[in-house]
Amino acid sequence: MDDAQAMSPVRSLTAREWDHTYASLPAHWDEEPHPVLGELLAAYAPPPQRVLEVGCGLGTTARWLADQAYTVTACDFSARAVAEARRRTAPKTAVRYEVADITGPGRPDVFPVVLDRGVLHTCPTDRERRAFAAGMARVCGPGGLWLHVGAAALAPESALDQTNGPSWTTEETFLRAVSPWFTVVHQRIADFGRRAGITDWPARYAVLRRQSVVTDE
Ligand SMILES: C[S@@+](CC[C@H](N)C(=O)[O-])C[C@H]1O[C@@H](n2cnc3c(N)ncnc32)[C@H](O)[C@@H]1O
Repeated sequence: MDDAQAMSPVRSLTAREWDHTYASLPAHWDEEPHPVLGELLAAYAPPPQRVLEVGCGLGTTARWLADQAYTVTACDFSARAVAEARRRTAPKTAVRYEVADITGPGRPDVFPVVLDRGVLHTCPTDRERRAFAAGMARVCGPGGLWLHVGAAALAPESALDQTNGPSWTTEETFLRAVSPWFTVVHQRIADFGRRAGITDWPARYAVLRRQSVVTDE
């Protein structure tokens, strides 16, 4: 670790930094989700359902969900991302957008199904992953489901903590973050996206059920 890294602890990006990212870079991760997510939704949470997508970015997944007859609330703490998502969404589409930080006050209401594609994996430390999972627990109703898609480290040595890219979780670090509130119902590894060399890296697809009792917060 060099001096500059030692001075700046690893942390996730702030909402303003995400605004800047969306203003300055093409969102290379932005694409319709891999078919595995569709399979899992069909198996565990078939439509119609109310779904909250957390960290919706440019709204691509939210519009894809609406096309499949889900009623979607989509939130992101980047006001810039939400403005662009709204601009890309036809008026009659069943998506309602909110600017909200899932870890902070003023979160959306409670939903039977909550979903994140590539958001938990923006949290590079145990503490931030826990805070994110706690936020998901607060918006996931009793017995509800969390569908998660995020970068997966297949071996501990590839679990690099990065501030400027996905933070790959091992099964162990993933479970440590979610287990106080959620039980894993299904887990599998598949490609995150379908763009060869860009988004076809390994991702964890997890279906989690909200526990009625918090075990170890
Ligand atoms: C890698 S992008 C993924 C965007 C989108 N889910 C997709 O698949 O294209 C991560 C998104 O999560 C948002 N985000 C990160 N932390 C958040 C938080 N605490 N609350 C709400 N949104 C958050 C960021 O602003 C960013 O839009």
